[in-house]
Amino acid sequence: MRLEFRAIGKAFGELQALRDVTLNVAEFQSLAIIGPSGGGKTTLLRIIAGLETPETGQLSIDGQRLDFSEASLLLHRRSIGTVFQAYNLFPHLTARQNVMLPLVKVHDVAVGEARAIVDSLFERFQLSAHADRHPAELSGGQQQRVAIVRAIAIKPRFLIFDEPTSALDPEMTAEVLDFIAELRADGRNLIIVTHNMGFAREVSDHCLFIADGRVLEEGRSSELFSRPQNPLLVNFLAKVLRY
Ligand SMILES: Nc1ncnc2c1ncn2[C@@H]1O[C@H](COP(=O)(O)OP(=O)(O)OP(=O)(O)O)[C@@H](O)[C@H]1O
Ligand SMILES: [Mg+2]
Repeated sequence: MRLEFRAIGKAFGELQALRDVTLNVAEFQSLAIIGPSGGGKTTLLRIIAGLETPETGQLSIDGQRLDFSEASLLLHRRSIGTVFQAYNLFPHLTARQNVMLPLVKVHDVAVGEARAIVDSLFERFQLSAHADRHPAELSGGQQQRVAIVRAIAIKPRFLIFDEPTSALDPEMTAEVLDFIAELRADGRNLIIVTHNMGFAREVSDHCLFIADGRVLEEGRSSELFSRPQNPLLVNFLAKVLRY
């Protein structure tokens, strides 16, 4: 897929979260967004997902310009699968109901058909044994896998992840990262904010480094991780890779 940002700016009150982001990311399948805390990663992701509207600038996805009217944003949001930090399932619904809900309520899929879609996805991703359990009866890793299945059930144009493993212990992190790597191997388009550099490097073909509201470096992941140019990126990688 392709992303084109032109002079995107976003402020929260006095705070300038994104400053004049201009960038053309041509042809990627999987994009990682990395950078220090507070740099603007989530804000950029939310703009791509249509959950946040920039004050200035333009965004095109696959050559299609997103106009930020409420009606287009609504359609846009529905076409994307989003997964945020852990615990985004409804606690009072079973795993199966959690995945069926958006299909039935938002995408107008008939209940029987929705159930068939969910059951086949659960089967494919080894979640069938958990279908009738509530989130509290599942491990964090299982919950997050259900959340990912919920995102792909709607047949999204692409998937967005914002630190999908930040609330998980190392073993569950591995389980969820393996799952995301599998989606990539399936040929799905992914955009992932992650603090896990090993994963970013392995799963993404393209990478953005964002700090202080600016995209300071952008390129093929193989290139960016092995030959970082911007001193802030060099510093950042040295710091996060130290342990
Ligand atoms: N809804 C909001 N209201 C006010 N300020 C916000 C809001 N969302 C983000 N910000 C501010 O905008 C800046 C960028 O935030 P953002 O969440 O995009 O950073 P981030 O790179 O995702 O950080 P982290 O790695 O900690 O998640 C931060 O200074 C943050 O405090
Ligand atoms: Mg964030």
